Amino acid sequence: MSSSAVDASIEVWRLRADAALTRVLPDPGITPHRLHAAMRHAVLLGGKRMRPLLVYATGAVFNDAARADAALFDAPAAAVELIHAYSLVHDDLPAMDDDALRRGQPTVHVAYDEATAILAGDALQSLAFATLADAPASADARVAMLRELAAAASGMCGGQALDIDATGAADTTVLADLERLHAMKTGALLRASVRLGAIAAGADAEARALLDRYADALGLAFQIRDDLLDVEGDSATLGKTAGKDAAQAKATFPALIGIEASRERLATLARTMQDALEPFGERATALAALGRRAIERTH
Ligand code: IPE
Ligand code: IPE
Ligand code: MG
Ligand code: MG
Ligand code: MG
Repeated sequence: MSSSAVDASIEVWRLRADAALTRVLPDPGITPHRLHAAMRHAVLLGGKRMRPLLVYATGAVFNDAARADAALFDAPAAAVELIHAYSLVHDDLPAMDDDALRRGQPTVHVAYDEATAILAGDALQSLAFATLADAPASADARVAMLRELAAAASGMCGGQALDIDATGAADTTVLADLERLHAMKTGALLRASVRLGAIAAGADAEARALLDRYADALGLAFQIRDDLLDVEGDSATLGKTAGKDAAQAKATFPALIGIEASRERLATLARTMQDALEPFGERATALAALGRRAIERTH
């Protein structure tokens, strides 16, 4: 596939994900209006949709492009983005990172209020599982996907707990602990995105093992890039407050090993992703493109 054909597929998947999310979110015209409006704010106003794109791109590895039935992947794609959106609403709360800007908009607790933001996050999480339970898949596949997403959501919470523990302790955090923290708070959901796509597509165990290698490298790379952008980016481009990590003494890759070594680590992870995808050849072109985006992204 040429790179413009890949970009076109990715754009189609992005639109599909947005349509699926719009369908499952509650109507703000129905009571409780404020909660429903806050949930839509959290999900529909921006976002790169990286996790849904990974679901569709993994599906494309197993479905001939001409025959690919993207509708098989809409429910898992929407479900994982709902968990992600909930994690961002709670990550931004005053008790956590205390952020006022997200996706170029006021955060949910600023636009609405703190109680509404807490409830919106809670409700988005439940909606994710309800959406996945209705996926057009066999009962076995649906249970496997529910199990995967539940494990990833609780892994993400564990990573957030480790993040809080490590805050203010960058000088005593060791690299292995930081990698574990990143693998949990960010890697878990990215890996689940790939796994959901593989389950929905009926991938075999050998393919799943290769995809796990790709996804684990992508997950770590995604958060290292996030840490670097917090140092090097500006708030307008990022759509979130730059410089927050240093201000809050967060344990990050640049804080622990420096900017140059963080960039070198990204280059190594890029090679790991390429190696893992190599056996899939052309069929993994879209996954390879998303791997590059994770590393090269500017927001
Ligand atoms: C931000 O995720 C939080 C991290 C896990 C690093 P994204 O960079 O995917 O945020 P959106 O969805 O595009 O806003
Ligand atoms: C986010 O990590 C991890 C989540 C589970 C949401 P960060 O706290 O670095 O994410 P940003 O920079 O606020 O998006
Ligand atoms: Mg955080
Ligand atoms: Mg944050
Ligand atoms: Mg960050």
